[in-house]
Amino acid sequence: MPQLPPPYTDLLSEVLITQDELQARIQELGAQISQDYAGQDLVLICILRGGVMFLTDLVRHISTPHMMDFMAVSSYGAGARESSGQVRITMDLSMDIAGRNVLLVEDIVDSGNTIASVLALLQARQPASLKVCSLLDKPELRQTEVSIDYTGFVIPTKFVFGYGLDLDEYYRNLPFIGVVDTAKYKPTE
Ligand code: IMP
Ligand code: MG
Repeated sequence: MPQLPPPYTDLLSEVLITQDELQARIQELGAQISQDYAGQDLVLICILRGGVMFLTDLVRHISTPHMMDFMAVSSYGAGARESSGQVRITMDLSMDIAGRNVLLVEDIVDSGNTIASVLALLQARQPASLKVCSLLDKPELRQTEVSIDYTGFVIPTKFVFGYGLDLDEYYRNLPFIGVVDTAKYKPTE
């Protein structure tokens, strides 16, 4: 098991997905997306901040022409570890997506509330198509049904971090997905 760098050196209980496993799967997803969108325009929308590592690795395996844009959202009235069902855009896209094929790139779908809310906001802008690509799918506690068109890994109900996902805003740079040792971790909220 890798040693976690500071500040929380003892909070890694297991490596759930290794760097090699992540990269191999992302390569497959990129190839699939390239095939599916061949001959069509495509805009990838990354939801900040968790999706950023995934997006930047994914696009290196997309061989068809595409654009990227970014948005940030926050949940109304919820702590860091739960979602309320409604989101507020804190940083909007810079592009107009009307008439474009949009692929939303997310780090993880858990309750499904965040992605469902973002999808509704984007659908109102009348894209030609709107699909979802999520690195992780944690389906056991789903509250809102969402269809995920491209899934990296289906994972159990564990609190994970690394590779875009944070632990108190740290560790987004880890090259693997780790599981938090919940016996030792005290959330800041
Ligand atoms: P949902 O609205 O419950 O589907 O939650 C989605 C958001 O919650 C993700 O975009 C993450 O920001 C956060 N989240 C859910 N599970 C985890 C986790 O295990 N680690 C880190 N963030 C998570
Ligand atoms: Mg997120």
